[in-house]
Amino acid sequence: MKLWGGRFTKDTSQLTDDFNSSIHFDNILYSYDIQGSIAHATMLGKQGIISIDEAELIIKGLNEILQEIKMGKVEFDVSAEDIHMNVEKFLINKIGDTGKKLHTGRSRNDQVALDIRMYVKDKIKHIDSLLHELHEVLVNIAEKNIDTIMPGYTHLQKAQPITLAHHVLAYFEMFKRDRERLSDCYKRVNIMPLGAGALATTTYNLDRTYVSKLLDFDGITMNSLDSVSDRDFCIEFMSAMSLMMMHLSRFSEEIILWCSDEFNFIQLDDEYSTGSSIMPQKKNPDIAELVRGKTGRVYGNLLALLTTMKGLPLAYNKDMQEDKEALFDSVNTLSMAIPIFTKMLATLKVNKEVMYKSAGRGFTNATDAADWLVKNKVPFREAHEIIGKLVLYSIENNKTLEELTIEEYKNISDCFDETVYSSITLEACVNNRKVDGGPSKESIEKVIFINKNYLLNN
Ligand code: ARG
Repeated sequence: MKLWGGRFTKDTSQLTDDFNSSIHFDNILYSYDIQGSIAHATMLGKQGIISIDEAELIIKGLNEILQEIKMGKVEFDVSAEDIHMNVEKFLINKIGDTGKKLHTGRSRNDQVALDIRMYVKDKIKHIDSLLHELHEVLVNIAEKNIDTIMPGYTHLQKAQPITLAHHVLAYFEMFKRDRERLSDCYKRVNIMPLGAGALATTTYNLDRTYVSKLLDFDGITMNSLDSVSDRDFCIEFMSAMSLMMMHLSRFSEEIILWCSDEFNFIQLDDEYSTGSSIMPQKKNPDIAELVRGKTGRVYGNLLALLTTMKGLPLAYNKDMQEDKEALFDSVNTLSMAIPIFTKMLATLKVNKEVMYKSAGRGFTNATDAADWLVKNKVPFREAHEIIGKLVLYSIENNKTLEELTIEEYKNISDCFDETVYSSITLEACVNNRKVDGGPSKESIEKVIFINKNYLLNN
């Protein structure tokens, strides 16, 4: 018989149980559900809604159930629908009629809202800690590559020389914003909904603030309808996770390009690459590809929940049970993707010489040559024109700007003199860019210092 069976004359069909039940995925909420129930029972006892003895018996029973589930000793029952009613059934089986008092002044609607908030709080902390580790690795790579010159790109065409440190620290900024988004989202998750009841609270004298303190929340929700129908916090979290995946995916794309023979900028460690079943020579960047690939499913999960929520009238609707698989899937995906991506980065080898040579091709110092003219009193637009001609001449003669003789320079403009050479070396191009946020050794050392400080506190 169902816990809600009183009004019914027949049991639900097997099809209904299978379709309606969520226990096969929401069972992972068991510890949050039980903690929430323990806080609820404690409060019911304190308020005299049930006796202290009853509260204690319920709490003891719930603690035992928690251990039994942890040890894999229990079998969940599909006909009990979800984790909330499974736990309640275990309790009633264990302690008898007193167990039937646990649900006093509570609905599954506020109960599930509480459970998911507790889950999301935990997972935000977990994902933030994974991003912290990724951050550490990025700083590490940056420190080792302050002088590793590589080409910087726009339109995937060589643009100006930068360093690998500068490049990886771009990702530091992205993941820093991701972590800021998590902590901002956390503030709104950290509000306690229990006591909202099914939709309109209850007639019992509940102490919601007490429950909120027991469960380490920052405060209580202020509208019971909103409390049971709000999944904004899941959507915010999933949207923050989508952005993280977008960042990981862009980085993955670069890793994939960089370990192709065409670039040959890096080599992945054998532990984090894979082979081919037919081509013996292959070493594939599967991890980066999968991270890029899984980004799609994380976006999909976000869109699924947004779409589920968009037409729902207040307050709770069963549609909302669809929040969980999408949310859990995104959390599980990131919980695997971030650590493996971090390991892959930490172990890859940088082909510094290849990067350096590559930066030397494609006239990445052309802007600096133009800047040399500007510093020698040629208006920038004119300088641009002169260097454009110089580049054209160099392409036709298969030379780099450094390889042109001073006569060749002077043939194009008599403004040039020998000092131009020292300002167009790759090292000069990088290290003369001392503006805050730029690639010079000086600027990067400043940023590494700032980032290390950030990591001490975050
Ligand atoms: N399993 C349900 C969910 O995940 C719990 C809430 C059910 N409430 C209800 N009135 N049927 O949303």
